[in-house]
Amino acid sequence: RHGGGRTRDLLGFRQVDTHDEDVLTVPEGYRTQVLIPWGTPLQPDGPRWRKDASNSAADQARQLGMNHDGMHFFPLGKGRHASSRRGLLVLNHEYVDQQLLFPDGDEDMTPEKVAKALAAHGVSIVEIERGDDGRWHTVRSRMARKVTGATPVTFSGPVAEQHPELRARNRPMGTLNNCSMGVTPWGTYLTCEENFNSYFGTEDPDWRPNAAERRYGINRDGFGYGWHRASERFDIAVNPKEANRFGWVVEIDPKDPAAVPVKRTALGRIKHEGCVTTVSRGRIVGYTGDDQDGDYVYKFVGDRPWRDHLDKGRSPLDHGTLYVARFDDDGTGTWLPLVFGRGPLTRRNGWRDQADVLLRTRMAADALGATPMDRPEWLAVHPKSRDVYVSLTNGSGRGGAVTPRQPNPYGHIVRWREHGGDNTATRFAWEVFVLAGDPAHDERVELGDNMFGSPDGLWFDPDGRLWIQTDISNSSQNLPEKGYGNIGNNAMLAADPDTGEIRRFLVGPRGCEITGVVTTPDQRTMFVNVQHPGEETPAWGSPTPENPRAVSNWPDHDPEGRPRSATVVVWREDGGKVGAP
Ligand code: FEO
Ligand code: CA
Ligand code: CA
Ligand code: CA
Repeated sequence: RHGGGRTRDLLGFRQVDTHDEDVLTVPEGYRTQVLIPWGTPLQPDGPRWRKDASNSAADQARQLGMNHDGMHFFPLGKGRHASSRRGLLVLNHEYVDQQLLFPDGDEDMTPEKVAKALAAHGVSIVEIERGDDGRWHTVRSRMARKVTGATPVTFSGPVAEQHPELRARNRPMGTLNNCSMGVTPWGTYLTCEENFNSYFGTEDPDWRPNAAERRYGINRDGFGYGWHRASERFDIAVNPKEANRFGWVVEIDPKDPAAVPVKRTALGRIKHEGCVTTVSRGRIVGYTGDDQDGDYVYKFVGDRPWRDHLDKGRSPLDHGTLYVARFDDDGTGTWLPLVFGRGPLTRRNGWRDQADVLLRTRMAADALGATPMDRPEWLAVHPKSRDVYVSLTNGSGRGGAVTPRQPNPYGHIVRWREHGGDNTATRFAWEVFVLAGDPAHDERVELGDNMFGSPDGLWFDPDGRLWIQTDISNSSQNLPEKGYGNIGNNAMLAADPDTGEIRRFLVGPRGCEITGVVTTPDQRTMFVNVQHPGEETPAWGSPTPENPRAVSNWPDHDPEGRPRSATVVVWREDGGKVGAP
């Protein structure tokens, strides 16, 4: 039912073996180059990175941020060849590791440290070019810029900027925890705010979370960043409305350095992993997952062709319906509309209006009976069949047949076809595409040597190869007692969606995850992000201010340096298409 009618082989490289070394490996016949690691100046003459982490907040605001995640390449050169030699690389910086960001780690939070951490978050836009030697480098650019945790932003859609729930003490600014992404047909970049709750906290003994704050995981400690001790902005007791300004999909125009990023509230407020788009019947359709165990898969459907809205000066992302998915055990599914006044979302049940439904999207989806999933991460849409794939990275398996393992430490990938092949439809048919894991621990796993765990990043290249990136949490990675003794470091694999064949293409260094992938239009150059090499892991240790290299020293391997997230460029020695025969 999902066949694409193709006869030619899609995968044309030799499988890479697993390993647990502090190196990045790719197949025979492929080459790599490390590009724009954390701290690289945005402009070639910008402030240089200092390996003792002593760069100031002002320096960091002009350098690449930390923890590279979702990414896209926007070609600039005109024509078939030039478009694949020069472009804007736009990438997310999800979070910061304060042990690596500061010379003294995360002790004694100060306003300067909060400012540096904010500057290391968000989105970087850099202009890059391939030189005659075949290597890529940044070039001076009027379009290069940063959108950080402190950049002015605005709100659009049903939750207006003036909404009382968005009236915090400070002006609207910043995007945080930018995980995966999306690209619109009109050439903008969507960056998605995931674990925004982690940044808020308070020392006020009388503070208690309200029901919505509890549902979004806001508590008095957050994830331990401690920013609230140096900045009222992040004190949830003093400035509670600030948290309502996060958890959105944010639209950025990469080619207009003056364009203010816009939070598109019609797409709901959840821990958005990403927002992959497609077009059906001329309308924009955006798929987005809420990455929490037991949370949901959503889609936004525009209310008319996207060009009609743009022609009238409106955003296609401000007008449409947000749905949440119910996956039934018989292999069918239904999209349930999150619309005020419909179903249980009435005044009588305590819902005030559509803005209220969107501000409390998770609670509205609870009321509709959406299916709890095993941490929905990236989604991808097949370029021809328009089938939709979602990574369920791991979880407790409470969703019925769509979550077939209880608990589910390895994750799986589910795919569906919308009714009639129309992505605006409200019914679909789903199946499990692959169950991840180690066959030695679960006989249902059919991966052989190409075993992997915790799928996260997903991306279809234009030929229909599905690239799968893994994020085994560092609390399990490389640990036999967690069933992860044979799987090695996090990796990237390629799948043939028709045959189901999956082959390992790249293995990362210690403590990292692999997340974010795109190619140039000619598919001869691939960009892959290596996030958080050297993060704390029980298998290898913890980075400390005295020894930031305890886990990894990738990519510099400088005896006085520290590990850095980076983009890796991958290409074939013979100049062929990456991944192809
Ligand atoms: Fe930021 Fe769910 O990964
Ligand atoms: Ca991540
Ligand atoms: Ca992810
Ligand atoms: Ca993940």
